Amino acid sequence: MQLKNDLLIRAAKGETVERTPVWLMRQAGRILPEYRAVRNSVSGFIELAQTPELAAEVTIQPVDLLGVDAAIIFSDILVIPEAMGLPYEMVEKRGPWFPNVVSSAADLLKLRIADGVDDLSYVIEAIKITKKALNGRVPLIGFAGAPWTIFAYMIEGSGSKTFSKARAMLYTEPELSHQLLQMITDSTINYLKAQIAAGVNLIQLFDSWAGILPPNHYDEFSLKYISQICDAIDEVPKTVFAKGAFFAREQMGKLNCETIGLDWNMGIAESRRMIGEHKTLQGNLDPAALYGTPKEVEAATILMLDQFKDSRHIANLGHGVYPDINPEMVKVFIETVKNYNN
Ligand code: CP3
Repeated sequence: MQLKNDLLIRAAKGETVERTPVWLMRQAGRILPEYRAVRNSVSGFIELAQTPELAAEVTIQPVDLLGVDAAIIFSDILVIPEAMGLPYEMVEKRGPWFPNVVSSAADLLKLRIADGVDDLSYVIEAIKITKKALNGRVPLIGFAGAPWTIFAYMIEGSGSKTFSKARAMLYTEPELSHQLLQMITDSTINYLKAQIAAGVNLIQLFDSWAGILPPNHYDEFSLKYISQICDAIDEVPKTVFAKGAFFAREQMGKLNCETIGLDWNMGIAESRRMIGEHKTLQGNLDPAALYGTPKEVEAATILMLDQFKDSRHIANLGHGVYPDINPEMVKVFIETVKNYNN
């Protein structure tokens, strides 16, 4: 189907755009009271994510209520471990928790490579319903966690300040680590291909825990697998967002993808120099800037846009929007981007 607003896709490909497209990481869920109302009608996040009609509804909410230039399918990066045989729970106010983790070669034998269509049919169904309901209004973004970030949760079993169990595994069991990372990579490729077949227009990889690895480990245990995923997918544009991977920007410029996401710690001019002109950059307003007054939010957004001016850019925050941000400030951010003269 023809997209009525394809700014995101054209900006990703480096084509000329009338204005910079804008969306927010974690725009579905988190900040909207309308999201909480839907979520409170079910037992929790997991039931919501596994009910395709409701997942589609909360995916579209930010398009209607905030005016973003893209929808991102409502799901989580942790559906991959679950599809591989390692289920997760979402503990209220604490986040994800895995009753079982991977700590030995024997644990690996209990896992399988996920088939994106059958094991994750609820996400695929949600994508189909969303595409139909969007009717081409804006592109739909599909996503997955990068293998290293998924590995970190599968070893650690929950969020962590240091992810020291996961990082220890890279030193003590490098072969086992590579085996698991390869299984996650193969599962992720199957999953992203199924998302694309169901209709997503662009995909993004989230490497949320990139920044805790030393550069040599990042090359060996993360970029290597991100690169396999990028090479395996050529149907739609790809975005790689690696939080904290300032040390890897030059190598990221060489990935087979269209867009690199910047977090808010990364200098814009410096990132452009390191990554090159041939990629679109996405980001990177400090999410905390949205705690300011409307005038301050507008000024901070313009300051960011000025630094990206005349180069390939998709406006976003430097990480997911924080849960306690006032949706009105998100609207100021979005409107400022839309009114900015390129
Ligand atoms: O962008 C979107 O809004 C689409 C949906 C989406 C969710 N999670 C829904 C969600 C996306 C893209 C994600 C990605 C995700 N999940 C990441 C990568 C991005 C990042 O923030 O770095 C990570 C690391 C996770 C793992 C995860 N899921 C955590 C740590 C938590 C708990 C804290 C939190 O972020 O809210 C979740 C739960 C989660 N995933 C919620 C939502 C809407 C909150 C669940 C609820 O409603 O209680």
